[in-house]
Amino acid sequence: MNRYWTLAKRPPPPWPDADTFEIRGAPIPSPGPGQALTRTIYVSLDPYQWGYKRRGVEPEGAPCHARTVAQVVESRIDGLSPGDFVFCTNGWAEYGLMGEGVPRPGYMVPRKLDPAQGRISQAVGVLGMLGLTAYAGMILQCDPRAGDTVVVSAASGGVGQIAGQLARMRGARVVGIAGHPDKCRYVVEELGFNACVSHLSPTFADDLTAACPTGVDVYFENVGGPVFQAVLPLFNPGARMTICGLISHYGDEGGDAGAAERAAAEARGVHVQNLFVGNYVESHHDAFLAEVAPWVASGEVRYREDIREGFEAIPAAFADMLKGANFGKTLVRIAPDPTL
Ligand SMILES: NC(=O)c1ccc[n+]([C@@H]2O[C@H](COP(=O)([O-])OP(=O)(O)OC[C@H]3O[C@@H](n4cnc5c(N)ncnc54)[C@H](OP(=O)(O)O)[C@@H]3O)[C@@H](O)[C@H]2O)c1
Repeated sequence: MNRYWTLAKRPPPPWPDADTFEIRGAPIPSPGPGQALTRTIYVSLDPYQWGYKRRGVEPEGAPCHARTVAQVVESRIDGLSPGDFVFCTNGWAEYGLMGEGVPRPGYMVPRKLDPAQGRISQAVGVLGMLGLTAYAGMILQCDPRAGDTVVVSAASGGVGQIAGQLARMRGARVVGIAGHPDKCRYVVEELGFNACVSHLSPTFADDLTAACPTGVDVYFENVGGPVFQAVLPLFNPGARMTICGLISHYGDEGGDAGAAERAAAEARGVHVQNLFVGNYVESHHDAFLAEVAPWVASGEVRYREDIREGFEAIPAAFADMLKGANFGKTLVRIAPDPTL
């Protein structure tokens, strides 16, 4: 039997509750020609998945979508054998098919993993889509230089921790914004940011101003809302900003927070770019991996994961991630990881 989580009802605004998801079962599928059956080890939980549900992207009764790390059980794909590890999109499910005809977002291309390159869990994090997101937004779009002041929101999260470290390696002065003080401490002490302020503090806007005495040259936006409002008056003329994500708005009913934010920043002379990682996979994924994987292996780039245990833990871990009760990139391990 293949257990999977699916939506039990229309997703409530703003965030999922205890009844939003339910477990169902189906027979374990058999791979057709050009397909492989894989068993899920890690399920990646990401903010965009709530958007998929709110927008009704997922067919009713289907397993909730997610990027996954899995192990091949049976293969009818040349070059892929039982026991191999793969990046794929099994979703919130114990098993899934990959290969010809298996529906998936076009840019989430399944691939065989090399466990020698890094922990296999990192294939949905720093050595995969999230690392590429940080790289594309920070390096390719914002191009930080020595002496720039760079601000990163959701700084301890899956994308933010990488984005800030990449800017630090360029010689920029990096200021993080995070929630709980433990996260702020981690960002400074472990990741080497120059400062980190908590958006939960009643003096947040003043704290951010004090942490950026020469203004802001680059802003890597993950959050929006009051966090963006605190950054806005600090922009220097000619500053660069990438809108990577706006998680504080993912529970909104309607509105276009991205357009409003862009207009407000552009009115202050900021060069604003939107970011969609899917636009960079084909052109930059391999080069990104070749450059960043050695930094992760050497510890020059650090990466914290928040790994929860067990299939049943998925919905609660998802809700925690959306509300900031995670600490690092959120994953759930639903089967043993034989590489550990
Ligand atoms: N453009 C792309 O192609 C692309 C690709 C991947 C991800 N993204 C975006 O990147 C952003 C980060 O994603 P991630 O996977 O790395 O998630 P994450 O940062 O690991 O987790 C989400 C974090 O957002 C923060 N947060 C949530 N609600 C908030 C609020 N109201 N105010 C302030 N902070 C809030 C929380 O951190 P604190 O506890 O520190 O507040 C929470 O831990 C998201 O916006 C996501 O949509 C974009």
